[in-house]
Formats: sequence, structure tokens, C-alpha cells
Amino acid sequence: MSIEFCGLELAHRVINGSGTFDAIAARRVFDEGLRTGFPFAAYVSKTITLEPRAGNPPPRLWEAPGGLINSIGLPNKGLDGYLRDDLPQLADLLGDAGGEAADRRAVPLITNVMGADSEEISRLLEACQERGEIAAVELNVSCPNVKTGLDIGADPRQLEDVVRAVRGRTQKPLVVKLTPNTADVAACAQAAEEAGADAVSLINTLRATALAPQATVRPRRPWLGGGTGGLSGPAIRVVALAQVEAVAARVTIPVVGMGGVQCARHARDLLDVGATLVAVGTESFRDPASAGRIARELQSLEEG
Ligand SMILES: Cc1cc2nc3c(=O)[nH]c(=O)nc-3n(C[C@H](O)[C@H](O)[C@H](O)COP(=O)(O)O)c2cc1C
Repeated sequence: MSIEFCGLELAHRVINGSGTFDAIAARRVFDEGLRTGFPFAAYVSKTITLEPRAGNPPPRLWEAPGGLINSIGLPNKGLDGYLRDDLPQLADLLGDAGGEAADRRAVPLITNVMGADSEEISRLLEACQERGEIAAVELNVSCPNVKTGLDIGADPRQLEDVVRAVRGRTQKPLVVKLTPNTADVAACAQAAEEAGADAVSLINTLRATALAPQATVRPRRPWLGGGTGGLSGPAIRVVALAQVEAVAARVTIPVVGMGGVQCARHARDLLDVGATLVAVGTESFRDPASAGRIARELQSLEEG
């Protein structure tokens, strides 16, 4: 069985949520096992920005009931560092390097990028266009824990303008990763589709915060170094289901559904409301092999 997604051929319906599975670090731990038993049908990189970013000051994590607030702040090596250091390693791992990996199906690489405006995003897309190792691009317009240029995804008109302005900069499939922190996510999805997106993905994390626990400290301060962060994990699953359902009902392009998926039943729910693919995020921190298990269980649900 194979799944068609924006012209790519995938072995199954389960991919990773950007920023939640570091394939390069995982390879150091699992070595060849990761190559042969790669859990995702496509691999989405963490968000890459034009310039390197250090990320937010610590603390960066807060455990919430049934979830996790992260305020990581998108640390990354920047475009040049990604292309120079990470891309060759990812291509080797995912099987795009030819030769050695010819015995198994290559896992398409989706590079996730974020820019503060159309100019920055255009440069990122143009650079991705040049690289054959990259199968598709995911545009992050939705991360709530950094302060620049991110609200473009919250307003349908702005989102449409930006996607329209950058769409022509790559011929590769363009997935727009929507923000859930908006009044009408379906309107944003429709705007992205009308501007030329090939697919949309959702949900990103929900804006959240936590106060430092010392009850006696006045005024109370946020716990997270970045002030606010984004909530992920089981706590957001029901929100994800509602937003994916609303979006899938509005657009004709494929939808990648994510948010709190821990087992095949959760994945099946997202598919049943109209998603084409499902991404596993926070669950991979608890169990890095979870996506492989979910994909297998999903296949047996489909066959049974
Ligand atoms: C620690 C962490 C880092 C993340 N980094 C990114 C990122 O770099 N880019 C992005 O688009 N989404 C990022 N996300 C959002 C996830 O890809 C996903 O949309 C979200 O966590 C919901 O799925 P989940 O509940 O299964 O984790 C991150 C999430 C977490 C928890």
C-alpha cells in the first residue's frame, strides 16, 4: 500500500510534527536501526530560519495536565547551517543519497521554514528549490513562542497575501502549517489554498503560559524564560480534532492532522474527519518508536 501526498509517494499515513523528533540525534543513539526502521513515512525538519537563532532563555518547558508547554523559541543553525551540516546527514539517513540506500524506499524530506515577511520566506523557498534532497516545504506561519512575524497566519487576508507573494519561489509542494491561535482556522486554510498552497497542516501548539510556583513572590512571574509558550500533547487532541474537521470541510487540498496523537485510534479520528496524513509530535518524546507502532496499528485497523 502506498499513499499519495502532493505528488509524493509515502509508505503509510504517519509523519512527524516539526521540531519533535531530531533525526540526526536519534541516529547517533539508534544507529542503523533508525535507517532500517524509520518510523515516519515522510520526515519534517524542525523550523529553519534565514539567520541562526539561539532560542528562548530557560526554563523552556512546563508540564501541564495532559500536556507540555514549550517555549523553545525555534533554535536552529539558520539556512546556511542547515543546508551545509544537516541536509547531507538527513539525505543519507532518509535514503536520498542513492547507492547504499537503494534497497529501501526513500523517505521524503519536508523542510519546515519560517520567515518574518515575504522577502525572508522567498529566500528560504528559493534555497529549498535548489536542493534535490528536499521533497517539499512546510511554511510555519503559526508558532506562538517567538515574537517576530508569526501572526501572519492568524489573519486570513495577511496569510493569503504572504502565501501568494512567495508561492512562485519554489516548484516543490508547499504545505502551510496553520496556527490554531486564530478566530477562524478554516478561513485561514481557505486563504492558504486560494493563494496556492498544496496542502495545509494543523494544529501547531496553543498559546499558553504558567506562573512560577513560588506563591509568595509578588508580583507573580511567568515560569518560562520566553514568557509564554505553546501547549501540545493529549490535552490539545480534542481541539485538534475540531480544527482539522473544520479545515477539511472547507478546503479541497490535503490536510495533515496533528495534536495529541498517542495511538492509532487517535490517528484514525483525524483521518475520519478528513485528514490525509497524521503527524505524531509530543508522543515521540515519551516513546521515540511510537509513530512506527501507530502506523502499524493503523494499517491493521484499515485491513481489519
Ligand atoms: C518541543 C516542541 C517543538 C516544536 N517545534 C516546532 C517547530 O520547530 N516548528 C513547527 O512548525 N512546529 C513545532 N512544534 C509543534 C508540533 O510540530 C505540533 O504541531 C504540535 O506539538 C502538536 O502536536 P502534538 O500534540 O502531537 O505534539 C513543536 C512542538 C513541540 C512540543
